Amino acid sequence: MSRHVVVTGASSGIGAACARAFHANGDRLSLGARRVERLAEVVPDAFCHQLDVTDAGSVERFVAAAVAANGPIDVLVNNAGLARDVEKIAEGTGEAWREMIETNVLGLLEVTRRVLPQMIARKTGHVVVIGSIAGHKAYVGGGVYCGSKRALQPICEAIRMETLGSNIRVTSVDPGMVDTEFSLVRFRGDAERAAKVYTGTRPLTAEDVAECVAFAANRPAHVNLDTIVVMPTDQANPQMVHRQ
Ligand SMILES: NC(=O)c1ccc[n+]([C@@H]2O[C@H](COP(=O)([O-])OP(=O)(O)OC[C@H]3O[C@@H](n4cnc5c(N)ncnc54)[C@H](OP(=O)(O)O)[C@@H]3O)[C@@H](O)[C@H]2O)c1
Repeated sequence: MSRHVVVTGASSGIGAACARAFHANGDRLSLGARRVERLAEVVPDAFCHQLDVTDAGSVERFVAAAVAANGPIDVLVNNAGLARDVEKIAEGTGEAWREMIETNVLGLLEVTRRVLPQMIARKTGHVVVIGSIAGHKAYVGGGVYCGSKRALQPICEAIRMETLGSNIRVTSVDPGMVDTEFSLVRFRGDAERAAKVYTGTRPLTAEDVAECVAFAANRPAHVNLDTIVVMPTDQANPQMVHRQ
């Protein structure tokens, strides 16, 4: 039976690939991002709505509109997120830190807290979180991004405990390097610097990650994949990458 799948940050990269994977599976989609015009190009017939996860009012409107369009939510893919700058803590100004924490942590919580009660009431649902290997291992200049992704681990653990008995699954999909607009965003549009991140190595594609998300979501209801850590073969940890 077709499920209602909500994907945040579906205008690009991993979120767009997740949308395409669930669409191929025959699911009904509600897609959100700030660049709403790009959402319409991701999957034909998906319900698309403006969403800024850092704005509580926008999240409220997005979730209400998604439910009105497609009914109760079966799967929530919390994907919207970003890294901004590479900045040692002693050199930080706070602006990028706030943006990352407001998006990656508080934004995810704002969406999740509006979706979980309906899942608990219906005794069914799957919350997927796109974490990162940055949440498992810190790197120089990435302390706050890593912290924002590490924060998702206890959040997922707490949701599992708090919803136990309600038939709700919680999966964290934690990728290594993926070739998306991630680095372009991190380096504020500096395409040359962004391209260097992937030079001489073979990163994951957004589709590689979306396959992991879809695999977790397509397990039988009694099977919960807790955490999937997926990295390129050419990567050992956030700072060790094999380059030709
Ligand atoms: N690429 C990697 O190497 C990598 C590795 C591990 C984890 N991740 C994680 O994967 C997730 C997706 O990133 P990506 O690699 O696919 O990068 P991307 O191509 O830049 O996509 C990021 C998506 O997040 C959305 N987004 C950002 N801020 C938002 C906000 N305030 N409200 C709503 N949507 C917002 C963007 O849409 P709009 O700009 O249109 O709003 C965009 O659709 C992120 O959580 C990232 O941390 C990425």
